[in-house]
Amino acid sequence: MTEDQNNNMPRRKFLKLGVGSIGAVFGLTYVSLLGDFLMPPEANAQTLQEVGKVADFKVGEPKFVSYKGSGVEEGLYVINQGSEGWLALDFHCTHLQCAVNWVPATQQFICPCHGGVYDIKGNVLDGPPPKPLPRRVIKVEDNSVQVGGITA
Ligand code: FES
Repeated sequence: MTEDQNNNMPRRKFLKLGVGSIGAVFGLTYVSLLGDFLMPPEANAQTLQEVGKVADFKVGEPKFVSYKGSGVEEGLYVINQGSEGWLALDFHCTHLQCAVNWVPATQQFICPCHGGVYDIKGNVLDGPPPKPLPRRVIKVEDNSVQVGGITA
């Protein structure tokens, strides 16, 4: 064995170990994602979190709120529909996930990216969005407005 070959042996071992480790990480990640796909969490599995009191939400005026869900900052619109109850809509456009904005003047959610338009209930009115804004779990109990994960 030459001196050059001796120096390459540790490098080969290092590369094998490195490639093997990376492969193991990808493999475990894939198995984990496959598990989530085959057994998705229940719609109500995420813990509800309070985002305000009833008086904080005027009837017919969607209000954007943010909260920590599963350790990640999340945002949604809470809508007090008066006698029709409460609605919580995810703020991500269903086209390419841009943040939609509530525009009081037109009473619509507008997506600034490609002009998607939704009504106050999240139904698509115009533009490229393929489906309504996702609905989130919402519960009003003892003057507390609580939200959670996406329904259905
Ligand atoms: Fe909203 Fe394209 S991302 S319309």
